[in-house]
Amino acid sequence: MTDDVANAPATDDSPTQEDDRSAFEKAQDEAGEDVDPRTIPQTLEEDPPIGDEIPYPEYSDEDNETWRILVERQMEQLPGRACTAYMKGQETLQIESDRIPSLANLSERLNEATGWTVANVPGLIHEKDFFELLSERIFPSTNYVRGREELDYTPAPDCFHDIFGHMPMLTQPAFADFYQLFGQAALNGEGSVRPKLEAFHWFTVEFGLLMEDGDERLFGAGIVSSNEEVTHALGDDVEKIPFDPQTLVNTDYEVYNLQNKLFVMDSFEQLLDGFKSWTRRHGLLE
Ligand SMILES: [Fe+2]
Repeated sequence: MTDDVANAPATDDSPTQEDDRSAFEKAQDEAGEDVDPRTIPQTLEEDPPIGDEIPYPEYSDEDNETWRILVERQMEQLPGRACTAYMKGQETLQIESDRIPSLANLSERLNEATGWTVANVPGLIHEKDFFELLSERIFPSTNYVRGREELDYTPAPDCFHDIFGHMPMLTQPAFADFYQLFGQAALNGEGSVRPKLEAFHWFTVEFGLLMEDGDERLFGAGIVSSNEEVTHALGDDVEKIPFDPQTLVNTDYEVYNLQNKLFVMDSFEQLLDGFKSWTRRHGLLE
Protein backbone atom coordinates (compact mmCIF):
# COMPACT_ATOMS: atom_id res chain seq x y z
CA MET A 1 0.00 0.00 0.00
CA THR A 2 1.09 3.54 -0.67
CA ASP A 3 1.13 4.88 2.85
CA ASP A 4 2.82 8.15 1.93
CA VAL A 5 0.02 8.98 -0.43
CA ALA A 6 -2.63 7.99 2.07
CA ASN A 7 -1.01 10.18 4.72
CA ALA A 8 -0.38 13.14 2.47
CA PRO A 9 -2.20 16.42 3.16
CA ALA A 10 -5.72 16.43 1.79
CA THR A 11 -5.08 18.66 -1.21
CA ASP A 12 -6.68 16.18 -3.55
CA ASP A 13 -6.64 18.56 -6.51
CA SER A 14 -6.81 16.56 -9.63
CA PRO A 15 -5.83 17.96 -13.00
CA THR A 16 -8.14 15.42 -14.61
CA GLN A 17 -11.38 16.24 -12.78
CA GLU A 18 -12.11 19.88 -13.40
CA ASP A 19 -15.86 19.49 -13.65
CA ASP A 20 -17.35 19.97 -10.21
CA ARG A 21 -20.87 19.10 -11.25
CA SER A 22 -22.32 15.93 -9.80
CA ALA A 23 -23.48 13.17 -12.14
CA PHE A 24 -27.06 14.27 -11.43
CA GLU A 25 -26.37 17.85 -12.47
CA LYS A 26 -24.52 16.75 -15.61
CA ALA A 27 -27.44 14.55 -16.64
CA GLN A 28 -29.87 17.43 -16.04
CA ASP A 29 -27.72 19.88 -17.99
CA GLU A 30 -27.23 17.53 -20.89
CA ALA A 31 -30.83 16.38 -21.07
CA GLY A 32 -31.72 16.92 -24.72
CA GLU A 33 -33.03 15.05 -27.69
CA ASP A 34 -30.01 12.75 -27.92
CA VAL A 35 -30.21 11.58 -24.33
CA ASP A 36 -32.02 8.39 -23.36
CA PRO A 37 -34.74 9.70 -20.99
CA ARG A 38 -34.18 6.66 -18.77
CA THR A 39 -30.75 8.03 -17.86
CA ILE A 40 -32.13 11.28 -16.43
CA PRO A 41 -32.49 10.96 -12.66
CA GLN A 42 -35.89 11.69 -11.16
CA THR A 43 -36.83 13.09 -7.78
CA LEU A 44 -38.95 10.81 -5.61
CA GLU A 45 -42.35 12.44 -5.18
CA GLU A 46 -43.24 10.26 -2.21
CA ASP A 47 -41.59 7.65 -0.01
CA PRO A 48 -40.99 4.47 -2.02
CA PRO A 49 -42.46 1.17 -0.76
CA ILE A 50 -40.00 -0.75 1.41
CA GLY A 51 -39.73 -4.48 2.21
CA ASP A 52 -43.08 -6.22 2.51
CA GLU A 53 -44.87 -3.10 1.22
CA ILE A 54 -43.50 -3.92 -2.24
CA PRO A 55 -46.02 -5.76 -4.45
CA TYR A 56 -44.85 -8.49 -6.83
CA PRO A 57 -45.59 -7.34 -10.40
CA GLU A 58 -47.23 -9.51 -13.01
CA TYR A 59 -44.20 -10.17 -15.16
CA SER A 60 -44.67 -11.42 -18.70
CA ASP A 61 -43.19 -14.77 -19.72
CA GLU A 62 -40.74 -12.85 -21.87
CA ASP A 63 -39.50 -10.83 -18.88
CA ASN A 64 -38.98 -13.95 -16.79
CA GLU A 65 -37.22 -15.59 -19.72
CA THR A 66 -34.94 -12.56 -20.12
CA TRP A 67 -34.06 -12.84 -16.43
CA ARG A 68 -33.30 -16.54 -16.81
CA ILE A 69 -31.01 -15.93 -19.80
CA LEU A 70 -29.16 -13.16 -17.96
CA VAL A 71 -28.65 -15.21 -14.80
CA GLU A 72 -27.61 -18.38 -16.60
CA ARG A 73 -25.03 -16.72 -18.80
CA GLN A 74 -23.45 -14.91 -15.87
CA MET A 75 -23.39 -18.09 -13.78
CA GLU A 76 -21.41 -19.81 -16.52
CA GLN A 77 -18.67 -17.25 -15.94
CA LEU A 78 -18.78 -16.16 -12.29
CA PRO A 79 -17.64 -19.24 -10.33
CA GLY A 80 -13.87 -18.91 -9.91
CA ARG A 81 -13.99 -15.25 -10.96
CA ALA A 82 -16.34 -13.61 -8.45
CA CYS A 83 -15.15 -13.34 -4.84
CA THR A 84 -16.40 -15.75 -2.18
CA ALA A 85 -18.50 -13.09 -0.43
CA TYR A 86 -20.41 -12.35 -3.62
CA MET A 87 -21.09 -16.04 -4.33
CA LYS A 88 -22.17 -16.64 -0.72
CA GLY A 89 -24.40 -13.57 -0.91
CA GLN A 90 -26.23 -15.10 -3.85
CA GLU A 91 -26.92 -18.20 -1.76
CA THR A 92 -28.03 -16.18 1.25
CA LEU A 93 -30.51 -14.28 -0.90
CA GLN A 94 -31.57 -17.45 -2.73
CA ILE A 95 -31.60 -15.62 -6.04
CA GLU A 96 -33.58 -17.82 -8.37
CA SER A 97 -32.95 -18.12 -12.09
CA ASP A 98 -36.37 -19.20 -13.34
CA ARG A 99 -38.23 -15.98 -12.61
CA ILE A 100 -37.58 -12.42 -11.52
CA PRO A 101 -37.20 -12.51 -7.73
CA SER A 102 -39.56 -10.71 -5.37
CA LEU A 103 -38.04 -7.54 -3.89
CA ALA A 104 -40.04 -8.12 -0.69
CA ASN A 105 -38.45 -11.57 -0.22
CA LEU A 106 -34.98 -10.29 -1.01
CA SER A 107 -35.47 -7.46 1.46
CA GLU A 108 -36.38 -9.90 4.22
CA ARG A 109 -33.31 -12.09 3.62
CA LEU A 110 -31.04 -9.06 3.39
CA ASN A 111 -32.48 -7.73 6.59
CA GLU A 112 -31.72 -10.98 8.39
CA ALA A 113 -28.14 -10.93 7.09
CA THR A 114 -27.03 -7.34 7.71
CA GLY A 115 -30.03 -5.20 8.60
CA TRP A 116 -30.38 -3.72 5.09
CA THR A 117 -33.78 -3.54 3.42
CA VAL A 118 -34.90 -2.88 -0.15
CA ALA A 119 -37.00 0.01 -1.48
CA ASN A 120 -38.68 -0.18 -4.86
CA VAL A 121 -37.83 2.93 -6.92
CA PRO A 122 -39.02 3.84 -10.44
CA GLY A 123 -35.58 4.18 -12.07
CA LEU A 124 -32.56 6.42 -11.73
CA ILE A 125 -33.26 8.68 -8.75
CA HIS A 126 -31.96 12.04 -7.57
CA GLU A 127 -28.63 11.66 -5.81
CA LYS A 128 -29.94 13.13 -2.55
CA ASP A 129 -32.75 10.55 -2.45
CA PHE A 130 -30.24 7.84 -3.31
CA PHE A 131 -27.77 8.85 -0.58
CA GLU A 132 -30.58 9.34 1.95
CA LEU A 133 -31.78 5.77 1.42
CA LEU A 134 -28.26 4.31 1.60
CA SER A 135 -27.62 6.24 4.82
CA GLU A 136 -30.63 4.44 6.32
CA ARG A 137 -29.41 1.02 5.14
CA ILE A 138 -32.07 0.90 2.43
CA PHE A 139 -31.10 -0.21 -1.06
CA PRO A 140 -33.11 1.42 -3.88
CA SER A 141 -33.95 -1.14 -6.56
CA THR A 142 -35.93 -1.16 -9.77
CA ASN A 143 -38.34 -4.03 -10.43
CA TYR A 144 -38.37 -4.13 -14.25
CA VAL A 145 -35.96 -6.06 -16.44
CA ARG A 146 -34.24 -4.77 -19.58
CA GLY A 147 -35.63 -5.57 -23.04
CA ARG A 148 -34.30 -8.56 -24.96
CA GLU A 149 -32.46 -6.22 -27.34
CA GLU A 150 -30.44 -4.89 -24.40
CA LEU A 151 -29.18 -8.18 -23.00
CA ASP A 152 -25.54 -7.11 -23.23
CA TYR A 153 -25.85 -3.52 -22.22
CA THR A 154 -28.43 -1.06 -21.02
CA PRO A 155 -27.65 2.54 -20.13
CA ALA A 156 -30.52 2.60 -17.65
CA PRO A 157 -30.87 0.79 -14.34
CA ASP A 158 -32.83 -2.47 -14.33
CA CYS A 159 -33.51 -5.14 -11.75
CA PHE A 160 -30.91 -7.54 -13.13
CA HIS A 161 -28.17 -5.04 -12.32
CA ASP A 162 -29.78 -3.98 -9.05
CA ILE A 163 -30.61 -7.44 -7.72
CA PHE A 164 -28.00 -9.75 -9.25
CA GLY A 165 -25.26 -7.12 -9.34
CA HIS A 166 -25.69 -5.21 -6.08
CA MET A 167 -27.63 -7.18 -3.51
CA PRO A 168 -25.33 -10.17 -2.85
CA MET A 169 -22.55 -7.89 -1.59
CA LEU A 170 -24.94 -6.22 0.86
CA THR A 171 -25.01 -9.50 2.81
CA GLN A 172 -21.28 -9.02 3.56
CA PRO A 173 -21.02 -7.14 6.91
CA ALA A 174 -18.02 -4.87 6.28
CA PHE A 175 -19.20 -4.01 2.78
CA ALA A 176 -22.72 -3.39 4.09
CA ASP A 177 -21.30 -0.97 6.69
CA PHE A 178 -19.15 0.75 4.08
CA TYR A 179 -22.14 1.34 1.79
CA GLN A 180 -24.22 2.90 4.56
CA LEU A 181 -21.29 5.12 5.49
CA PHE A 182 -20.95 6.09 1.84
CA GLY A 183 -24.56 7.33 1.89
CA GLN A 184 -23.98 9.28 5.11
CA ALA A 185 -20.78 10.89 3.81
CA ALA A 186 -22.26 11.69 0.41
CA LEU A 187 -25.17 13.55 2.02
CA ASN A 188 -22.58 15.93 3.43
CA GLY A 189 -20.64 16.27 0.17
CA GLU A 190 -20.63 19.69 -1.49
CA GLY A 191 -18.89 21.09 -4.59
CA SER A 192 -15.70 19.48 -5.83
CA VAL A 193 -15.80 16.60 -3.38
CA ARG A 194 -18.86 15.15 -5.13
CA PRO A 195 -17.11 13.87 -8.27
CA LYS A 196 -14.57 12.28 -5.94
CA LEU A 197 -17.32 10.49 -4.06
CA GLU A 198 -18.68 9.32 -7.40
CA ALA A 199 -15.24 7.97 -8.31
CA PHE A 200 -15.22 6.13 -4.98
CA HIS A 201 -18.57 4.59 -5.78
CA TRP A 202 -17.50 3.71 -9.30
CA PHE A 203 -14.22 1.99 -8.42
CA THR A 204 -15.59 0.07 -5.44
CA VAL A 205 -19.35 -0.58 -5.44
CA GLU A 206 -19.59 -0.79 -9.24
CA PHE A 207 -16.17 -1.97 -10.42
CA GLY A 208 -14.22 -3.14 -7.38
CA LEU A 209 -11.85 -6.12 -7.36
CA LEU A 210 -10.76 -8.06 -4.30
CA MET A 211 -7.51 -9.93 -3.73
CA GLU A 212 -8.42 -13.39 -2.48
CA ASP A 213 -5.87 -16.14 -1.83
CA GLY A 214 -3.41 -14.38 -4.14
CA ASP A 215 -5.85 -13.98 -7.03
CA GLU A 216 -7.92 -11.04 -8.21
CA ARG A 217 -11.63 -11.66 -7.83
CA LEU A 218 -14.69 -9.65 -8.82
CA PHE A 219 -17.21 -7.97 -6.56
CA GLY A 220 -18.32 -4.74 -8.28
CA ALA A 221 -21.96 -4.78 -9.41
CA GLY A 222 -21.10 -3.28 -12.81
CA ILE A 223 -18.74 -6.18 -13.49
CA VAL A 224 -20.67 -9.16 -12.11
CA SER A 225 -23.82 -8.08 -14.00
CA SER A 226 -22.02 -7.51 -17.32
CA ASN A 227 -21.28 -10.42 -19.61
CA GLU A 228 -18.28 -8.73 -21.21
CA GLU A 229 -16.75 -7.10 -18.11
CA VAL A 230 -16.56 -10.40 -16.22
CA THR A 231 -13.76 -11.69 -18.42
CA HIS A 232 -12.39 -8.31 -19.50
CA ALA A 233 -11.87 -7.08 -15.91
CA LEU A 234 -9.55 -9.94 -15.02
CA GLY A 235 -7.60 -9.78 -18.28
CA ASP A 236 -4.29 -8.15 -19.14
CA ASP A 237 -5.87 -5.18 -20.91
CA VAL A 238 -6.89 -3.72 -17.58
CA GLU A 239 -4.40 -1.97 -15.31
CA LYS A 240 -4.87 -3.21 -11.73
CA ILE A 241 -4.07 -0.64 -9.05
CA PRO A 242 -3.78 -1.42 -5.31
CA PHE A 243 -6.61 0.27 -3.39
CA ASP A 244 -5.69 3.69 -2.11
CA PRO A 245 -8.38 6.33 -1.57
CA GLN A 246 -6.27 9.31 -2.60
CA THR A 247 -5.18 7.70 -5.87
CA LEU A 248 -8.66 6.37 -6.54
CA VAL A 249 -10.50 9.68 -6.28
CA ASN A 250 -8.09 11.22 -8.78
CA THR A 251 -8.42 8.51 -11.40
CA ASP A 252 -10.63 8.93 -14.46
CA TYR A 253 -12.97 6.20 -15.57
CA GLU A 254 -14.92 5.06 -18.61
CA VAL A 255 -18.66 5.49 -18.25
CA TYR A 256 -19.69 4.04 -21.62
CA ASN A 257 -16.84 1.66 -22.49
CA LEU A 258 -15.09 -1.29 -20.94
CA GLN A 259 -12.90 -0.25 -18.03
CA ASN A 260 -9.15 0.13 -18.49
CA LYS A 261 -8.15 0.69 -14.85
CA LEU A 262 -9.50 -1.06 -11.78
CA PHE A 263 -8.65 -0.94 -8.08
CA VAL A 264 -7.94 -4.06 -6.06
CA MET A 265 -8.86 -4.21 -2.37
CA ASP A 266 -7.10 -6.51 0.10
CA SER A 267 -10.28 -6.88 2.16
CA PHE A 268 -13.62 -5.19 2.77
CA GLU A 269 -12.26 -4.00 6.12
CA GLN A 270 -9.54 -2.16 4.19
CA LEU A 271 -12.25 -0.55 2.07
CA LEU A 272 -14.27 0.47 5.14
CA ASP A 273 -11.24 1.83 7.02
CA GLY A 274 -9.85 3.60 3.94
CA PHE A 275 -13.17 5.28 3.28
CA LYS A 276 -13.55 6.30 6.92
CA SER A 277 -10.17 8.02 7.03
CA TRP A 278 -10.62 9.69 3.63
CA THR A 279 -14.04 11.09 4.58
CA ARG A 280 -12.80 12.30 7.96
CA ARG A 281 -9.94 14.18 6.32
CA HIS A 282 -12.47 15.89 4.08
CA GLY A 283 -14.85 16.73 6.92
CA LEU A 284 -17.63 14.54 5.52
CA LEU A 285 -17.98 12.41 8.64
CA GLU A 286 -17.01 12.90 12.26
FE1 LIG B 1 -25.19 0.06 -9.93
